[in-house]
Amino acid sequence: MVALTKNFNNIIKVSIRQKQVNFYKKATGNNVLPPERQYWTLSHIQDISPESEINWLYNNGFLEKSQFVGVDNDEEKILINKINHPEAKWVSGDILQAVWNYENFNPGIFYFDTISSIENQQTIALTRKLMSPCPIENVFFANFVMRNYRRNIYYTENALIKSLFNTNYLRSRWEFCGSCEYIGEKVPMKTFAFFRVK
Ligand SMILES: C[S@@+](CC[C@H](N)C(=O)[O-])C[C@H]1O[C@@H](n2cnc3c(N)ncnc32)[C@H](O)[C@@H]1O
Repeated sequence: MVALTKNFNNIIKVSIRQKQVNFYKKATGNNVLPPERQYWTLSHIQDISPESEINWLYNNGFLEKSQFVGVDNDEEKILINKINHPEAKWVSGDILQAVWNYENFNPGIFYFDTISSIENQQTIALTRKLMSPCPIENVFFANFVMRNYRRNIYYTENALIKSLFNTNYLRSRWEFCGSCEYIGEKVPMKTFAFFRVK
């Protein structure tokens, strides 16, 4: 078993995890992740503490570890995660390639846990590409830094939604469920939740 100190298991992240599960339950009416559905996330290191993403979800009875799919383009992190949680699925590589190459891609939750700015058009485009293959009744979460300190701009939720859903077709497929604000690495961030409708 390997546990490293650098992680995202602080009180803020745990409160976000709880909010995400609440969003999911409200949007779908499911109290747990159905067995045929997966939980996708950018993993970083998932250590063996109760606050790690995978342990928190498992200990709260929300999923089985075999439903957890962790992707990271840092191979070392994936190797550590495989040792810590051999029951889960671990993919080393780029998130979009992982989605495209995964057999039976069927997420109930997809958590695009980046630390990117709302101004980063590449990340917005990638978010769109990741949302596109998500099945009906998927709840998609994405984080964005909403502030540009240099230019003293604070972006609204609407700015993100407008930039993300650049066609009526895309907008019609996703329902905006809400957002929650938190401080990540000293920067104010927002996690957005979207529900894939029929
Ligand atoms: C914020 S951390 C994830 C934290 C984790 N979800 C948690 O709650 O504990 C983001 C991780 O995504 C990885 N990453 C960033 N961009 C990626 C990409 N395009 N494909 C795969 N992994 C990526 C980084 O290496 C980093 O470890």
